Amino acid sequence: MWILQRNRDTLLATTLLACAVYGQESNLPPEEPGVFKTQANATIDAPIDVVWNALLDFPSYPDWNPFVRSQVLASDLFIPLDDQSNPVAGQKLIINVQTPPLDPPVDADTPSDPLHAQMSYENITVLEGAPTYRCAWKQIMIVDALLNATRWQALSTLEDGRTYYEAREVYSGSLATTLESTLGEGLQQGFDVQASELKAYVEGA
Ligand SMILES: *[C@@H]1O[C@H](CO)[C@@H](O)[C@H](O)[C@H]1NC(C)=O
Ligand SMILES: *[C@@H]1O[C@H](CO)[C@@H](O)[C@H](O)[C@H]1NC(C)=O
Ligand SMILES: *[C@@H]1O[C@H](CO)[C@@H](O)[C@H](O)[C@H]1NC(C)=O
Repeated sequence: MWILQRNRDTLLATTLLACAVYGQESNLPPEEPGVFKTQANATIDAPIDVVWNALLDFPSYPDWNPFVRSQVLASDLFIPLDDQSNPVAGQKLIINVQTPPLDPPVDADTPSDPLHAQMSYENITVLEGAPTYRCAWKQIMIVDALLNATRWQALSTLEDGRTYYEAREVYSGSLATTLESTLGEGLQQGFDVQASELKAYVEGA
């Protein structure tokens, strides 16, 4: 709905893309039940490996991502790693998000809105490159019963050679209802703008 209010052109473009990829099989795992979910997709005119490398190039997120303003690889004790270039499953992430996201486009110098900044500490649970092209990170909570949320992202190649990007996060646990009412809309906006700006970043590069 936010797109409708904020940018009719984006809505039209997204609708056309949705038609273009209608029938494309999802490369995300089967959806788990939860209290609510956020999801987005984009069709990107670039080879799958180029999109995959952009998605895993966390040090470049500040240059293009209005939602995840930074994402830093860290040790189990959440100390940033020297090597930020090779994420693997089991490594931890210190994520700085803006919910709702900043207005695109952004670059590394775009100031954050401190009122809408959140830190998130996550574990890379899945990171599978070719031929699977799937990754997932999960919020680290003391108990999953409070908030259980894993963000999945996956890529696949369309018949015409373009790349199909999909993201989904399902939120469950006793805090999920509160999260939905406070940040649910902003999180969905974040998913939408991350998909559209990943597309713009990769296609513009
Ligand atoms: C957390 O969610 C995952 C996937 O949705 C599920 O498999 C797991 O059982 C959940 N854990 C708890 C403690 O609810
Ligand atoms: C892709 O996203 C659009 C909105 O951006 C949505 O309307 C469409 O249903 C999504 N497609 C799939 C297959 O999830
Ligand atoms: C992090 O993810 C890895 C890979 O899936 C898993 O083996 C490990 O148990 C997870 N660690 C935590 C703290 O959840």
